[in-house]
Amino acid sequence: MGLIYVNPEGVLGNPIPPKSVPHIRGTFGRMGMNDSETVALIGGGHAIGKVHGACPTGAGPSPAEDPGNPWPGTCGEGPEKGKGPNTFTSGLEGHWTTTPWKWSNEYFKNLLAYDWESWKGPGGHWCVSR
Ligand code: HEM
Repeated sequence: MGLIYVNPEGVLGNPIPPKSVPHIRGTFGRMGMNDSETVALIGGGHAIGKVHGACPTGAGPSPAEDPGNPWPGTCGEGPEKGKGPNTFTSGLEGHWTTTPWKWSNEYFKNLLAYDWESWKGPGGHWCVSR
């Protein structure tokens, strides 16, 4: 896991992009990818989907605490508990493009079209916004 994991908040949770570059290059290099393949994969992958984590009471028990049902999510009731809008995974919240259900080039367009700055969100995680 440690060999392929990239912390989305930065190396050791510190949002310092120049430190993330060698880490991401090393991680994806171990999987046989060069720089352009790595960029295409990360940007292409994040053209779809979103980050999840607006539930203020968090993800619930970790795998160490409850291996059978880790991080079930603690918001919502019944079958909606921890699902759909109540999903809590990274603890960040938002999507990368305006059409997260459809693959596009927008991740890269947004990356280049705006200045981005890191800030700590209300959930206590580092994220970036323009
Ligand atoms: C530097 C490497 C990467 C980092 C730091 C990273 C980080 C993240 C984070 C924080 C999330 C949100 C998880 C959540 O809150 O549910 C996420 C979701 C996602 N990632 Fe990545 N990711 C990386 C590489 C990739 C790659 C290589 C792909 C695919 C080719 C990919 C595809 C996705 C998709 C599709 C989602 C959305 C999942 C959903 O909608 O539930 N990611 N990523």
